[in-house]
Amino acid sequence: MFGRAQGGEATIAGRPIAAILREAAVETPAYVYDVGAMQDEAHELKHAFGAQAHLVAYAVKANSAGAVMRALLDAGCGAEVGSLAELELALEVGVPPEAIIVNGVAKTDAELDAAVASGGVGVCAVQIDHLAEILRLDARAVALDRPARVSLRINPNVRADTHAGIATGHDEAKFGIALEEIGEAVELLRQSRQLLLVGLGIHIGSQLTRTNEYLEAARVLVDAATSYEAASGDRLELFNLGGGFGVDYGEGSCAPPAEFARDAARLFKERGLSTRLMVVEPGRALVASHGVLVASVLGHKTAGGRRYLLIDAGMNDLLRPALYGAHHRIEALEASSGAGQRWNVVGPVCESSCDFGTSMLPDPPPSHVVIRDAGAYGYSMASHYNGRPLPAEIFVARDGTIRVSRASDSARWLAERLAAG
Ligand code: LLP
Repeated sequence: MFGRAQGGEATIAGRPIAAILREAAVETPAYVYDVGAMQDEAHELKHAFGAQAHLVAYAVKANSAGAVMRALLDAGCGAEVGSLAELELALEVGVPPEAIIVNGVAKTDAELDAAVASGGVGVCAVQIDHLAEILRLDARAVALDRPARVSLRINPNVRADTHAGIATGHDEAKFGIALEEIGEAVELLRQSRQLLLVGLGIHIGSQLTRTNEYLEAARVLVDAATSYEAASGDRLELFNLGGGFGVDYGEGSCAPPAEFARDAARLFKERGLSTRLMVVEPGRALVASHGVLVASVLGHKTAGGRRYLLIDAGMNDLLRPALYGAHHRIEALEASSGAGQRWNVVGPVCESSCDFGTSMLPDPPPSHVVIRDAGAYGYSMASHYNGRPLPAEIFVARDGTIRVSRASDSARWLAERLAAG
């Protein structure tokens, strides 16, 4: 949890961040995470399901650090993976294959093979994204002589109230099987040799701040499942509602993850589905608020009538502002007095979009700033753009002890690029 000590300095997990940085002896920019608070988020979410059978499959893409994965595994989470590397990571960390959901709109043969070959009966479910994938997955499963558990990712045609780039459940999105195609999908599955339909799934988008559309889509899913069961006489094992629970980036209200779980559990109870496995795939909601990105202030300038604060973190370290126009709160690391003034905080990358927006900060400027709510889709979307190293990461455990993962080596980048071609 990010906070401020009595003296006013920024803290995480109850420890001053400046002291953590000194102890870690890393250069900025550096991510700092409160791993215990992430685990508490998972416990709280699981608790909200009450008597509903459930699997919280943590979306690894949000933050794939081993320490985070292990903490969430300890809290009883499974994993949602979107690539072969994420699947391998989840398995290495010790997530049981039966608690792993494999997603992807364009999966490679290697990804399909690994999903089918994991554990005794493969992963919990490979989510089929489109009709042709049924034939491809069956061919892989036949080649491996193994059965494959599948869930159909349907497109419920519900437009989530979020940024267009992360809304995935409407009829123009590239994801999932249209409702009208479910019959055909079921027929293809019936004709398949190794595929076993265990469930249906949806994922309408990310950073949902209210439960309305999530529940609307859940109703579409439940209706589709009920029709399938009535027509086939089969019983589905799981209903996957996807992830997307939002966090408050400082704008104000946002339904907490527990509210999504409670409302969905209520719907399932009404429909007599409490004993079926409800799968949810949260990423952001478990980790975003419990990570910060610390940057050094390199200088300031006035240009075009704007006051720019120049920091050493860039769009390669935290892409969300450049990609989605997302605003993260930025605060001084040290205690500061007075209201300060509005600064336009920008990074070093040679693009105007390397811009973190405006924030109230002290004047004269502080030596370091903290960019809040950077625990999700921060490091995991970082890149070497401009030849910049990947930032360091510091993991603070519940007892205050830290583990450090150092910034990637610029010399290696240089050698790789020199050797390219
Ligand atoms: N399940 C599926 C199938 C997904 O595609 C995603 C995220 C999740 C679960 C987890 O969603 P979450 O609970 O984290 O919202 N880079 C963007 C977010 C992209 C989300 C991609 N899919 C951002 O920084 O806002």
